[in-house]
Formats: sequence, C-alpha cells, structure tokens
Amino acid sequence: MTWLEEKKVAEIAAAKRLAVEVDHLTYTFPDGTTALREVSFQVEEQEKLMIIGRNGAGKSTLLLHLNGLLKGKGEIKIFGETINKKNIKKIRAQVGLVFQSPDDQLFMPRVLDEVAFGLFNGEKEPEVIEFKTKKILQNLGIAALAPKSPQQLSLGEKKKVSLATVLVLGPKVLVLDEPTSGLDPASRRWLINYLKNFNQTIIAATHDLDFAWEIGSKIMLIDEGQKIAEGQKEEILSNRELLEKHQLEVPLLYLLSKYQS
Ligand SMILES: Nc1ncnc2c1ncn2[C@@H]1O[C@H](COP(=O)(O)OP(=O)(O)OP(=O)(O)O)[C@@H](O)[C@H]1O
Ligand SMILES: [Mg+2]
Repeated sequence: MTWLEEKKVAEIAAAKRLAVEVDHLTYTFPDGTTALREVSFQVEEQEKLMIIGRNGAGKSTLLLHLNGLLKGKGEIKIFGETINKKNIKKIRAQVGLVFQSPDDQLFMPRVLDEVAFGLFNGEKEPEVIEFKTKKILQNLGIAALAPKSPQQLSLGEKKKVSLATVLVLGPKVLVLDEPTSGLDPASRRWLINYLKNFNQTIIAATHDLDFAWEIGSKIMLIDEGQKIAEGQKEEILSNRELLEKHQLEVPLLYLLSKYQS
C-alpha cells in the first residue's frame, strides 16, 4: 500500500459512522396539526444529542419517528438504512425508545415480565434473562417492585420501569423522552452516571437543562416544529438571548462552571 492509500484507510477508520440521519422531516397529525416542519439533522455514532424546546415544540413527535412509530414526509436513516416496513424489526432492535409517558410503554402484568420481555427476542438462556433483569431493577432501586403490576406504581416508579425495559437491552441508539421527569434526586443522579458511561449514541428530549449540560455533546433547539439552532453544548446553552426567546434558560450548571473557572 502506498502512503497515500494508507492515509486514506486511516482516515476512513477514524471517521465516525452516522447513527441517525433525518432529512427534511415534516409531519402533520390527522387533525391537521403540523408538528414538524422540514427538520434535518445528523447524529454520529456515540454522539449525545439533547433536543430542547418549549412545550409543544415537536420534540416527542420527532423522537417517535426515530424507530418508525410515526412516519412523516422526508427520510430517516439508521446506520445508513432508510426506515421502511421491511426493516422495521431490525431498526427497533437498534433504536430503543423510552416514551415520555410510562403508560404508553408498560403493558405486561408484572414489572419483572415487563423488563424481561424485550430480552426474549435475542437471548435464549433463561438464567441470563433473569440475571440481567434483576440487575437493572437493582441498579434503579426498584427490585422490590418486581412482582407488582406496573399499573399500580407511582409515576416515578413507572418511569424507572420504563427506563429499565429499554436500558436492559443496551440499544445501539438510545432515545429518551424526558428521562429525568418524575425521578427523585438519587435516581436522577444514577441515570446521569449510567448515561455518562453509556458508550453508544444517545438522543434525548429534555426540559432538564442541567441534565442536557451534563450529558449532551450537541444540543438542538426546536420550536413550532422547526429546527432553530444546533451546535456544541457550550455554544447553545450559554446563549441567553436565544434560550430566553424560546422560553428556556441558561442551565445553572453552565453558570457554575463559569463561576468556578
Ligand atoms: N395526537 C396528536 N394529535 C394532534 N396534535 C398533536 C398530537 N400529539 C401532539 N400534537 C401536537 O403536536 C405538537 C407537538 O407536540 P409534541 O408532543 O411533539 O411536543 P413536545 O415538544 O414533546 O412538548 P412537551 O415538552 O410538552 O413534551 C403540539 O402542538 C401538540 O399539541
Ligand atoms: Mg414531549
């Protein structure tokens, strides 16, 4: 191989793959509400993209497109493959989505079955399924809830079970809709630490701007279904004028980091 060829090979190896590509996505609900307008963005493998924006901005609608639950106009690719009817099972094995509302996620009679459910698709060994299920429940501090019905839990408990059902699968693209809402401080901290060590791609919609500061590498601001701004976290989360114009505020942790430096 010539040095030029070697350089090319090294460059290709160093370039991160694109995990998610969204190209001119527009979505209108059956009642005529247009919730997304020509939204385009890309997320590299292992990148952590935080989507921020006021209530009704279109964040949840956008996330529901990433594993094909909604289908708008435009194109969405996961690791280079356009989502379509044929590959939807494969896409859902790659993209794990935790809904904003746990009631949309939970349907099994017992918490234990709820968390083990997704593992039955890939894992054959019952001992491994049991081990992984119990471990994630312990990590989230909800092992005692295993025999209970998800419908009988408190909101925060339901949220933790929802998170457990997806985290236990270790998806290549983790999509979280308001992951910290309803969590007590210790559980929120556990989740932040877990996500800091999570080596795969994360896309999260959040009003918890301190969470976005701690977890995000990139931030995308949307409003009225449109992408308003996208950039490195320092660039977006320090821009008071931009944030306040869209009903948001500079995160306290950013201000603290400036104060300390
Ligand atoms: N099923 C639906 N039918 C009609 N309109 C809907 C439906 N679901 C959401 N919308 C509308 O679409 C827009 C975007 O809603 P979406 O839930 O995506 O916002 P969001 O940014 O996630 O808000 P929040 O911060 O409150 O979770 C809103 O105007 C909302 O009223
Ligand atoms: Mg939402």
